[in-house]
Amino acid sequence: MKTRVAIIGSGPAGLLLGHLLRAEGIDCVVLERQTRDYVESRIRAGVLETVTTDLLHRLGIDQRLNAEGMVEDGFNLASDDQVVRIDIKALTGRHVTVYGQTEVTRDLIEAAPARGLDIVFEAKDVEIHGIDGDAPFVTYTKDGESLRVDAQFIAGCDGFHGPSRKAIGDGAEFERAYPFGWLGILADVPPCHPELIYANTVDGFALASMRSPTRSRYYIQVPLTEDIRNWPEERLWDELDRRFAPLADRPVVRGPALEMSIAPLRSYVFETMRRGRLFLAGDAAHIVPPTGAKGLNLAASDVAYLADALIAQVKRDDEAALLGYQARALARIWKAERFSWTLTKLMHRFPDDGPFEHRMQVAELDYVAGSRAMQTAIAENYVGLPL
Ligand code: FAD
Ligand code: DHB
Repeated sequence: MKTRVAIIGSGPAGLLLGHLLRAEGIDCVVLERQTRDYVESRIRAGVLETVTTDLLHRLGIDQRLNAEGMVEDGFNLASDDQVVRIDIKALTGRHVTVYGQTEVTRDLIEAAPARGLDIVFEAKDVEIHGIDGDAPFVTYTKDGESLRVDAQFIAGCDGFHGPSRKAIGDGAEFERAYPFGWLGILADVPPCHPELIYANTVDGFALASMRSPTRSRYYIQVPLTEDIRNWPEERLWDELDRRFAPLADRPVVRGPALEMSIAPLRSYVFETMRRGRLFLAGDAAHIVPPTGAKGLNLAASDVAYLADALIAQVKRDDEAALLGYQARALARIWKAERFSWTLTKLMHRFPDDGPFEHRMQVAELDYVAGSRAMQTAIAENYVGLPL
């Protein structure tokens, strides 16, 4: 098969890039290792910046988003005894939208056939070739058959563990691992509070989030070594109840878990986002800790830049934007890394921290509570910096 852009990975980055290119009539194909079912049922992020919702509106893939997305004008930062509301609408004139990554993915996959976006699921053994020349290609196997896609460009949108970053080889790499993870639960129960609460409690971080007025998503901080088998659902509900009772409008309502998992926290940037004809976007190039909900939104801004650059190259033979892609993307990535790192440090209990460090956290939250300037800085990062 011959195409203009071979896209590896059908997460938010690969699917959005595919649709943005197809909207300009540019041929592309998405190669995904997993089944469609698997991709559509992976539970991940839940908060969309306007940068991300604007892309979905621009593509006209927004019917369900418009009907079901929950516009959030504020969120809360809390400690054991105070709740600071960040009024993002008053401070920035903007908002965020609660709409699950799962739903975004489903909408993008469903819209693909009508827009001529070809997604090959269960493409195994993907390998990248010839990126330093002008005839790159990707090989893979499907149902036991060996296949090949020749392309002008390859977009590596295959997440943190995919083959694209490895194909770049040595690059400028920056990493910070955290000594804890988030244990998450999704359940069909009404949220305990109308807006998200990020809480730094004596027992560690906790987040009350939601997917809809009838579906809640909660997380708590757990040690990196924690085994999920130590967490029967009732134990987690007890813990959430204890942490949110003093902070939320209503008691935490319990229900059977639709999903429960532990995700480690990591900050990571691989600055070498281009080698020859291969470009990285999304988690393939960077990871943020989830505090601040930036991961999916950064994937969206990367591909907005990359789509612009590929369109300029293909339509107008203008290579300047492709040459500038890495610098343009990194400028936004590092600011999101900074915000996620700052919020992670402010809101979690670090095992090596003592009473002094905790006093620093309390003092910072106190400062935020009384300072419109601090609240504005947090709000404008939370809604997302401009493209
Ligand atoms: P991905 O969504 O990872 O998509 C990459 C795709 O590439 C996948 O479909 C994968 O199957 C495919 N792929 C991988 N290898 C190959 C291969 N060899 N061949 C073909 N295809 C391949 N962010 C938040 O903001 N809030 C959260 O609560 C949150 N929770 C998360 C929980 C987990 C467990 C993880 C892993 C991430 C979470 N994130 C969260 C981050 C957010 O989900 C990601 O930033 C976002 O999914 C990035 O999108 P992406 O398209 O770049 O990568
Ligand atoms: C959710 C996840 C986040 O990382 C976050 O900062 C806010 C919400 C969520 O899954 O709902």
